[in-house]
Amino acid sequence: MGDTVRVAFVGKGGSGKTTLSSLFARYAAQRGPLVAVDADINQHLGLALGATATPEPLGTMVAEIKDYLRGDNPLIRDAASMVKTTPPGRGSRLVRLDDPFFPSTQVEGLSLMVTGPFAEDDLGVACYHSKIGAVELYLNHLVDGPGEYVVVDMTAGADSFASGLFTRFDLTFLVAEPTRQGVSVYRQYQEYAADFDVPVAVVGNKIQSPDDVRFLRDHVGEDLLTWFEHSRAVRGMEQGMPFTLADLEPANRRALATLADRLDAQPKDWEKFGRQAAEFHLRNALAWANRATGEDLAAQIDPGFVYGPAVAAP
Ligand SMILES: Nc1ncnc2c1ncn2[C@@H]1O[C@H](COP(=O)(O)OP(=O)(O)O)[C@@H](O)[C@H]1O
Ligand SMILES: [Mg+2]
Repeated sequence: MGDTVRVAFVGKGGSGKTTLSSLFARYAAQRGPLVAVDADINQHLGLALGATATPEPLGTMVAEIKDYLRGDNPLIRDAASMVKTTPPGRGSRLVRLDDPFFPSTQVEGLSLMVTGPFAEDDLGVACYHSKIGAVELYLNHLVDGPGEYVVVDMTAGADSFASGLFTRFDLTFLVAEPTRQGVSVYRQYQEYAADFDVPVAVVGNKIQSPDDVRFLRDHVGEDLLTWFEHSRAVRGMEQGMPFTLADLEPANRRALATLADRLDAQPKDWEKFGRQAAEFHLRNALAWANRATGEDLAAQIDPGFVYGPAVAAP
């Protein structure tokens, strides 16, 4: 059993984020408790998991989430002065993976949460009520335990970079098709990731030949962790056939195991997590949030607060 892991699947639209998130979530849920979060611009994770019900979207309850997580932290005056990057401090409510306040649906042995649909326009830096801000707030206040997984199906785009969401993961899987377009997101991500010490592994998808693998390797080198072939089973599922992981092709099943093993080997770094939370909150405050709230939000940072399992209530 590894440390707890939060992983994001990012990549271009159509690359297979939702497909691979759903396959991986099914797989890793066999190893430990797992929350899957649909934070992709097109909300298809539930469908890919075969869920018949949709939980209440986190994006419609941002104000309540803020109020809940704020707890009685004296540095956060009210929910209105809490922004998506506001980090927890002493008095904040830290949550466990299965905190019932966050609506979820049970499917495939895991808990599914969703942001609710959002548009390209919602992805800007200054979006005060950003729906995926709800995910950042949740992750910032989450004290996940050993052997637990959080899997987020996420758009690679402006909001995640501007807000700091992309630093809230222990590891990011960048899904790339073996095309020039496919690897272009990798370059963009790599630039951000390198600046902020965010570990990224590339997962090839829709691979059809050794040439495809070579193409990815030429462009992303050592960062290529593994790859998925075009899957008839996934296609069949999309055509309405029943699907379980046992239907997946052996090579694709091995790729899932490689992802899970890589995650289980990833060490947790709470110190970095806390440092980056404060850093992004400061950036965010200066970029727009001080103006939006009329407050000096830097004062919300509690220098005496230490992230990690020690702060969570039993
Ligand atoms: N390995 C695969 N084998 C077969 N079809 C795939 C595979 N990966 C993705 N697809 C298909 O490609 C389309 C786009 O995938 P999706 O996961 O929705 O992409 P994204 O979430 O990145 O926009 C879907 O129809 C999906 O079923
Ligand atoms: Mg998707």
